[in-house]
Amino acid sequence: MKPEILLACPLYEGTMDQLDRAYTVHRFWEAKDPAALLRDVRDRVRAISTMGAVGCKAELMAALPKTEIIACFGVGVDAIDLKAAKERGIRVTNTPDVLTECVADLGMTLLLASAREIPQGDQYVRTGKWLKANYPLCRHVGGKLLGIVGFGRIGQAVAKRAAAFGMKIAYFGRRKSPESSYPFYSDIKKLAADCDYLMLTVPGGAETRHLVDAEVLRALGPKGTLVNIARGSIVDEAAMVTALRDGTLGFAALDVFQNEPNVPAELLSMHNVVLQPHQGSATHETRAAMGQLVVDNLSAHFAGKPLLTPVV
Ligand code: 8YV
Repeated sequence: MKPEILLACPLYEGTMDQLDRAYTVHRFWEAKDPAALLRDVRDRVRAISTMGAVGCKAELMAALPKTEIIACFGVGVDAIDLKAAKERGIRVTNTPDVLTECVADLGMTLLLASAREIPQGDQYVRTGKWLKANYPLCRHVGGKLLGIVGFGRIGQAVAKRAAAFGMKIAYFGRRKSPESSYPFYSDIKKLAADCDYLMLTVPGGAETRHLVDAEVLRALGPKGTLVNIARGSIVDEAAMVTALRDGTLGFAALDVFQNEPNVPAELLSMHNVVLQPHQGSATHETRAAMGQLVVDNLSAHFAGKPLLTPVV
């Protein structure tokens, strides 16, 4: 008998095929009556798979009390109630490493797209404006200081890329990294005041909620650029919109938002922002690798072997 699992949301197509072969999969998002589905599978579901934005609340764990493991398709587990999982003895896995390069690529792409105004220039050509006048000048990245908030795997991968573009680098984090000679700031406001570009790569969650507030944005200033490839919750979004409107903050390049897929309406018409629909890890190659890690963690669990990438 195949073990039964609940898929909280759709994952990469190939991953779902792999899961279908190994398990009896209940697709939660397709249920006409989700409460009835939960009642029906209550005593049979042994694993839940979910993704970063959807997470897993304590109520879902309570509704499926035989859950042994939650396998997250994504590195960020801020939307999973880890405390509840721990209390129930539920293991949690995520997908670190395999997405690092892709997310860092998008961070650097967003930084360059903002500095060189790529989406705006594209519109300029498409709408025939170039026929009348040349596009205004943009901002150079070489020689500028990039402040990286969080210097974990993704932050360090961003630093490698930025260095190749001739940028200077400094970082803010909980502690100084012993392997890095880049300047360390223990005060994010000070880093924001000193740098030209501030890139967020820290995990979301209670600890980092509104770490970037109105004061940090003011310190980054009218010539500064905020790049967020981490989580919307890290920034006080309302303060950011106000700062971008008033010119207290110069520019923003954003892949993540507080209430995805909803983006504050005001941002949509701003010329000084570049927007992406949470695309950090969204390539075929990386999504397939993330899916494989979800599958491998679940297989390890059901085979009684050590988990590959446990969080809890
Ligand atoms: C995920 C992410 O791809 O891994 C994360 O934490 O934010 C994204 O890159 C997305 O959450 C889908 O699971």
